[in-house]
Amino acid sequence: MKMKAAILWGLDQEWSVEDVELDDPNEGEVMIKLAASGLCHSDEHLATGDIPIPFPVVGGHEGAGVIHKVGVGVTDLEVGDHVVLAFIPACGKCRYCTSGHSNLCDLGAGIILGPQLDGTYRFHARGEDIGQMCMLGTFAPYTVANQDSVVKIDKDIPLDKAALVGCGVTTGFGSAVNTAEVKPGEYVVVMGCGGIGMNAIQGARIAGAGAIIAIDPIEMKREQAQEFGATHTAANVDEAWDLVSEMTNGQLADKVIMTTDVAEGTYVAEAMSLCGKLGRVVITAIGHPEEDTVSMSLFELALYEKQIHGSLFGSSNARIEIPKILQLYRNGQIKLDELVTKTYTLEQINEGYQDMRDGKNIRGVIVYD
Ligand SMILES: NC(=O)c1ccc[n+]([C@@H]2O[C@H](COP(=O)([O-])OP(=O)(O)OC[C@H]3O[C@@H](n4cnc5c(N)ncnc54)[C@H](O)[C@@H]3O)[C@@H](O)[C@H]2O)c1
Ligand SMILES: [Zn+2]
Ligand SMILES: [Zn+2]
Repeated sequence: MKMKAAILWGLDQEWSVEDVELDDPNEGEVMIKLAASGLCHSDEHLATGDIPIPFPVVGGHEGAGVIHKVGVGVTDLEVGDHVVLAFIPACGKCRYCTSGHSNLCDLGAGIILGPQLDGTYRFHARGEDIGQMCMLGTFAPYTVANQDSVVKIDKDIPLDKAALVGCGVTTGFGSAVNTAEVKPGEYVVVMGCGGIGMNAIQGARIAGAGAIIAIDPIEMKREQAQEFGATHTAANVDEAWDLVSEMTNGQLADKVIMTTDVAEGTYVAEAMSLCGKLGRVVITAIGHPEEDTVSMSLFELALYEKQIHGSLFGSSNARIEIPKILQLYRNGQIKLDELVTKTYTLEQINEGYQDMRDGKNIRGVIVYD
C-alpha cells in the first residue's frame, strides 16, 4: 500500500512526511487503519538521541484505529475490530508476563530496534527498509503491528481519545496507581505536567490522594493541572518544598512522581528532598542512556527508608489496564478529551512538536481521515 508517513532519517532532524510503501501483515500481524496518534515526548527523544534507535524510522507509538487486514495465524482479532496499540508488546508467556509484569515482557527488547519481531521490515521508502518506533510507527494513516502489541477495545469509545491510552494515559495513571501505589490521604508531588504528568495527577486523584502538588515552570500547565486534580501548584521544587513542608508539619510528601520532559541526574536529588520518611520517588521520565550520575542524600536514603523506583508503561499490564482506564472514561472519572490541546494533520507534525517544545500543549494529536 502506498501512502505518506513521517520518517526520521537522523539525529537533530525534522520529521520528513514522504511517500512510503507498507507491506501486508506477515504471520501473527495485523494492519490497522489509524484514527489518531498522540505526539508523545518519547518520539522527540529519538531526534535528540535520548532514546537511541537505528535510523530511518517511522515515528509514533500512541495510536488507536480499526483492524484493516489480518495476517495468517491471528485468531483473536478480525477486520473491523477497534484497537489501541500498546507501545510494549506482551507475549503472555515469558517470565514477566506470567508474573503480572507484562510491561517488562521479553519482547519489549525489540521496541527500539526498528524491525518487526521476525526481523523484517514493513515500511520502505527511497529504496530502504524503514523501522517502526516501538514496532508500531503510528505517524502514518495505516500501520502493521504484531498481535501482541494490539489491545481490542469496545466500539463506543472514540478512537481519537483511545489513542492516548496506548502510552501517555496508561503510563501516567499507572505511575501513580501501580508504581507509586498512592493510598487514600497521601501527599503526592508530580514534577512535570505534560501528557504523562497530567495522567499521574489523575491517577493520584482517583487513588484518593489527600493532596496533589503539581510542579511545572509553565503557568498554563499549572492551571490545567488543577483541572485534572492537583490541589496545589508550584513553579519549581523550592516552592513545592515550602508548600508540602507547611501542609505536613515538616513530614514532607509520601510519593513524588517525576514526569519532566527529560530525566536529569540532578532532578533525583530534588525529588528525594521532597519526600519524607518511607517516601517513594517514581522516575517515569527518560534520561539519556549515558547519563549515569545521580545525586541524592545517601544519609536520608538509609535513615528515612526512602525508596526510588523506575516506572515503565506505568507498571501496567496493558490488557487489563487499558479497558479499565476506558471504563473510568465512560464513567466520567478520568478525563481524556481535555488532554488534547490541539490536533494536527500528519503534514503539520513538525509544528506539533514545536508546540510541545514551546510548552503550548498538554497533548498534541495527529488526526487521520
Ligand atoms: N517510562 C515510560 O514508560 C514513559 C512512557 C512515555 C513517556 N515517558 C517519558 O516521560 C517524560 C514526559 O513525557 P511527556 O510526553 O509528558 O512530555 P511533555 O513535554 O508533554 O511534558 C513535560 C513537562 O515537564 C515540564 N518540565 C520541564 N522541566 C521541568 C522541571 N525541572 N520541573 C518540573 N517540570 C518540568 C515541562 O514544562 C512539561 O510540561 C518524557 O521523558 C518521556 O519520554 C516515559
Ligand atoms: Zn509515549
Ligand atoms: Zn512476555
